[in-house]
Order: sequence, then C-alpha cells, then structure tokens
Amino acid sequence: MSYLKIGLKVSFIVLFSFVLFSCQTSMSNKFNLEKTLVKTEAQLNYQCEVVDKFNKNELLPRSIDKNEVVMVPSNDWTSGFFPGELWMMFELTGDAKWKERAIKYTEYLENEQFNESTHDVGFMMYCSYGNGYQITGNQKYKAILIQTAKSLASRYNSKVKSIRSWDHSEDLYTFPVIIDNMMNMELLLWASKETGDPYYKNIAINHTNTTLKNHFRSDNSSYHVVDYSSETGEVIKKVTNQGYADETAWARGQAWGLYGFTVMFRATKDEAYLDQAERIAEFILTHKNMPEDKIPYWDFDAPKLPNEPRDASAAAIIASGLLELGGYSKNGKEYLDAANTILKSLSSKDYLNKKGTAFGFLLAHSTGNWPRNSEIDEPIVYADYYYLEALNRKKRLNAMLY
Ligand code: GLY
Repeated sequence: MSYLKIGLKVSFIVLFSFVLFSCQTSMSNKFNLEKTLVKTEAQLNYQCEVVDKFNKNELLPRSIDKNEVVMVPSNDWTSGFFPGELWMMFELTGDAKWKERAIKYTEYLENEQFNESTHDVGFMMYCSYGNGYQITGNQKYKAILIQTAKSLASRYNSKVKSIRSWDHSEDLYTFPVIIDNMMNMELLLWASKETGDPYYKNIAINHTNTTLKNHFRSDNSSYHVVDYSSETGEVIKKVTNQGYADETAWARGQAWGLYGFTVMFRATKDEAYLDQAERIAEFILTHKNMPEDKIPYWDFDAPKLPNEPRDASAAAIIASGLLELGGYSKNGKEYLDAANTILKSLSSKDYLNKKGTAFGFLLAHSTGNWPRNSEIDEPIVYADYYYLEALNRKKRLNAMLY
C-alpha cells in the first residue's frame, strides 16, 4: 500500500511505458472502474451496518462459512483486512465517515502490537495501522507499527535466517516458514526506513534469500511450508498445509510469492527479486489450468479440475501484485493486461456480490482452507482487501496517465 505513495514518484521512463502499454490494452479487456467503485462503496457501507451489530465484542468480519457470517477477534490473522478496506475507501472517496469507521476498527487491534506468537502480525497491523499511518501520519500509529515490527522480528532465527511463521502444530513442524510470510516483509522494510535502524530490513533480506533458496521448485511454483531445524538451519521437509498435496501448486501461495517478491524488489532494487517475481508471474499466467477469466482454481493441480472451486482471493492478490510489478518489468504490458482481465472478471456479476447480500462482503468464490473443509467457495475478507487495493492502484495509474 505504500506503493500508492511511491506510485506518484515513479520515474518518467516507467510512466512513459505505462502510457504506451495502456494505449495498447484491448478494448474488450476494459471494465468501468468508476461504476465498480460506486458498487463497492455501497456494499462496504452495508457491511458496516452488519458489523455494527457485533460491536459490543469488538469483532471483525472474516468470511461466510456454512451460511453464517464469521466474526473474529483482533488476534485472528485476518483482523486487519476490514479496517484496511475502510482506510482505502476513505482514500478513494475522501468521505470523512470512512475515516471515522477506519479509526474505530483499526484501534480494536492495538494490543496486537505486542503479539509475538505469529508472523501474521505483519498482515494484521500493516493492513490496518499501516494504511492508517500512510494516510493520516498519526504518530501514535507509527509507534504501534514500530512495536509490531519488534514483535515480528522477535521471531527471527539467525541459524535459519528466517522468521518463523507458526507456533501451532508442534507435532508436525519444528520451525515452519510458509510462503505467505513474504507478505510480512513490508512491515520490516517500513520499520527500517522510519527508524533508520537497518536491522529490520536486513532480516527481511535474509528471510527473502532463504525463501528464494528453498521454497521454489524448478518450474518456479512454490511449496507452501518449508520446515527447518532451528538448531542447524537445515531443511527438514517441504510440504503443504492448505494445498491439495505437497507437490501441487496452491493458488494463494503462488499469489503471496508474486506480491512479496515484488515488494522486496521495490525496497532493495535487487534484480534477483524482480527475476523471481517475473518467474512466478510466468508460472501463474501461462499455466495450462488457468481458466480464461484468470481466476485460478484453489490449487493449480486440484484433482477434479475443472470441477473445483475457484479462489477469488488469489486472483485479487495477483491483480494487485501485477499492477505494481508492471511498473518495474519489461513485461509491463502483459502484466497490466492480465490484471485488467482479472479485475474485469472479479467486477462482473459472476464474482461481485449484489449490494445488500453476502453480509456485505464484496467478492464471492474464495477458498480458505480446502483440506480442512473450511471457507470453501465463500466470500473472504482478504479477497475484498486486495481487490479494493487493486482497484485503487488502477485508479491511481489512470490518474497518472490522463
Ligand atoms: N495466510 C493464510 C492464508 O493465505 O490462508
């Protein structure tokens, strides 16, 4: 999301390339961004009414499961996405009511700044307080984010040269690192920039290099979990937790990798990270099992294709990631076209929920955890967050062009 600010500072060369490939984007790939934003604002407004009913317990919306809205406390890994959406809606509309709501729900998460029990504090706090700080410059938010970066950094192991993802499932793992963890690097990069202390950025670079070394297969798809010995740093095993099987390509994992390596390139300008992001994009965009509308099945190698649920959340993360990667890569036109196709699909009636339905969630058809039969083919809040982020990025790019 800090990309939104950085976006305004991109070089004229990058801007010029965007103009070139934008002009070449086929008409059939266009969708009405402004109309879509009006629809998303109305639906998010409805979601605020739904969420207000649960206010007493300070719960936040996560998903729908078996026809019920799932509301979660601040320590759930998804707690930051709803406040993040409210900040983005404030940024998109300038309407003060969104800011008031964003402040209220962001501050439910205040205690999580001390949470050292999961890598997910990066998601939780950077999507909520991070967006809030970028938009308001609130110094209290800055202090909370710096404390969160300390909590996240406490999970770093210098033998493994990585941040530990989970503490749960001790019977299965010793020192698990999941590809999703690449998304938490942005908080560490931000913390070094704000504090002047290089430590956070250094451990983010080490973590990324370890991931680059061990998480990817020769076709550039990634394993979900790599488990390490915390004593020696050696790899114990490479497995899946949320994918179909250890050797398959879980769709959201590929999306996290694409987005995470793009962010690392933004901060370091290390070409190895750009190359990896491009290789992941190629794996995703040229995969034989990618449907025409570019909304992937929940696992690229799921057993009953094409009769498998999609994952709109993976699509939204990919679209947002590609909109940034397009600004850095020689393949910019291809990435912008693909992001447009995804956004056009997600903004169609096949995926975008009608106003006043689905407890106010924006998108249908995400898959949370197929192996555990949880949140399958349902609306999930992180799909909405990255969809809104992608729409916001697209709006900014359009504003730069015309
Ligand atoms: N980070 C958990 C997930 O992607 O489901």
